[in-house]
Amino acid sequence: MSSHLQPSNLIDRFDRRIDYLRLSVTDRCDFRCVYCMAEDMTFLPRSQILSLEQLYDVAAAFVALGVSKIRLTGGEPLVRNNLMTLVERLGQLNGLKQLHLTTNGARLDKYAAALKAAGVTGVNISLDSLDESKFRQLTRTGDLSKVLRGIDAAIDAGFSRIKLNAVILRGRNDDEALALVEFARHKGIDISFIEEMPLGIIDEHSRALSFCSSDELRELIDFRYPLSASGESTGGPSTYYRMVDSPSRVGFISPHSHNFCHLCNRVRVTVEGRLLLCLGNEHSADLKATLDEFPGDSERLQQVIRSAMSLKPERHHFELNDNEPQIVRFMNMTGG
Ligand code: GTP
Ligand code: 5AD
Ligand code: SF4
Repeated sequence: MSSHLQPSNLIDRFDRRIDYLRLSVTDRCDFRCVYCMAEDMTFLPRSQILSLEQLYDVAAAFVALGVSKIRLTGGEPLVRNNLMTLVERLGQLNGLKQLHLTTNGARLDKYAAALKAAGVTGVNISLDSLDESKFRQLTRTGDLSKVLRGIDAAIDAGFSRIKLNAVILRGRNDDEALALVEFARHKGIDISFIEEMPLGIIDEHSRALSFCSSDELRELIDFRYPLSASGESTGGPSTYYRMVDSPSRVGFISPHSHNFCHLCNRVRVTVEGRLLLCLGNEHSADLKATLDEFPGDSERLQQVIRSAMSLKPERHHFELNDNEPQIVRFMNMTGG
């Protein structure tokens, strides 16, 4: 990876410059988090997903268009077979400044060192509870001790940025916000609290009743560890706060209470090769058709991507009700 010479050429109708690609490498996951998936999920057949080669071609086309940050997402990216061969190639892409990964952490003890060596600069790790049985309830299949080992492995590997992600649901883990901040402080890493988004139909809980606002959590944390707005942006949707006595930052991702769409700098590509212009809308362009029909033709792919920018909608319209969600795809299909 080297420093980038020109800013991104991808600009939408609202003058937002797109320099960040979230690339989903699989819809599969070894967890079944209650806010992300139904208990019984059907995953895509192999024939419908992009090959590692095609994923590389997508990334390379975006970088050629000036994208400087790529985040690999899932599902759980580390369950994709031979993912490391893709990561190693992405790590060599000229012009890519940041290569990040969002993971559930369960396989990080195995992969952290190799990811770092391949050029991954940061990892975000989901951690919703520090209590083994609550963690199991929220993830349905997850083993907390494995994830804690994964977090330590990431710290040992020396990534320049490690952030925990906690989706907080009222009555489930809202009593753990402070403990999670303390854990992040103890480990010297960042943490974001996320308001649940209505993606996919779930019946495990009521999204309206489980809603816990970022403001409420911020006040609670501030009471123990006074928070000052840091004004920093990592190019993501978190609003960050600092504490005087720790290097850890506390972020809040508040799609309901604080809309951040006007600052949006990102697009997503699903593992089916669908370029999604917004997490909360269905506007999309099919990249797989071009990848299948014209393998290796980066110019053509770049043209499809460039034209799709005009489809990017102004904002999402997430609502807090338990009727049909506006977006029926689950988060694991969308890539977070
Ligand atoms: P950074 O790139 O480091 O800022 O990370 P991030 O926090 O954006 O990424 P991560 O993959 O850890 O996602 C954390 C949460 O933010 C997930 O719930 C994502 O779905 C959510 N998120 C990321 N981008 C967007 C977005 O554009 N809109 C909305 N509504 N949520 C987003
Ligand atoms: N709302 C908010 N965040 C979600 N995540 C998964 N599903 C949802 C949802 N419905 C989070 C995970 C992970 C990140 C990629 O997305 O916890 O941290
Ligand atoms: Fe898997 Fe992440 Fe979804 Fe949990 S939130 S089921 S870890 S993809």
